[in-house]
Amino acid sequence: MENKNYTQVINITPELKSRIDELISHYPADKRKSALLPVLHEVQDAHDNWLSADLMAKVAEILEITPIEVFEVVTFYTMYNQKPMGKYMFEFCLTSCCSLRGAEDMLEYACEKLGIQPGGTTEDGMFSVVGVQCLGACGYAPMMQLGDFYKEHLTPAQIDQIIEDCKAGKIILHDK
Ligand code: FES
Repeated sequence: MENKNYTQVINITPELKSRIDELISHYPADKRKSALLPVLHEVQDAHDNWLSADLMAKVAEILEITPIEVFEVVTFYTMYNQKPMGKYMFEFCLTSCCSLRGAEDMLEYACEKLGIQPGGTTEDGMFSVVGVQCLGACGYAPMMQLGDFYKEHLTPAQIDQIIEDCKAGKIILHDK
């Protein structure tokens, strides 16, 4: 899925808008911008796990800020994607504790199993594999994030099982 011009259909459904409004309501009326991170999560989840420039502009409009303010945040955090990613995105922590416990081997194993390079996405759009920085679960190394959940103490056998569960639709990605 590399080197393509990606297009994204923007669809702020009434349900999504109401969720966004609810997030904004957690902050003072003159501080709508404070809702930017959770709003981006919500919008990304509703748009195939990525944020195009047009979608970022839409978020800016909703939060009454400039598109560049949204762009700065999206490009800073690895949790926001600027190109289509797989439905199941394996985010392997590659920081010290996980690295010492074989995180790179786990990432390579997953890539090999799925036939993609690190950072890549399978042709069917089902899986992506990326390396990220510490996810705060160092005591459970090696680990990865999948949707809103952590998969800990990873082994090749567990990765096999997770992939099978994803294919079988048994993996829940979001806790809402
Ligand atoms: Fe991997 Fe902290 S080093 S979660």
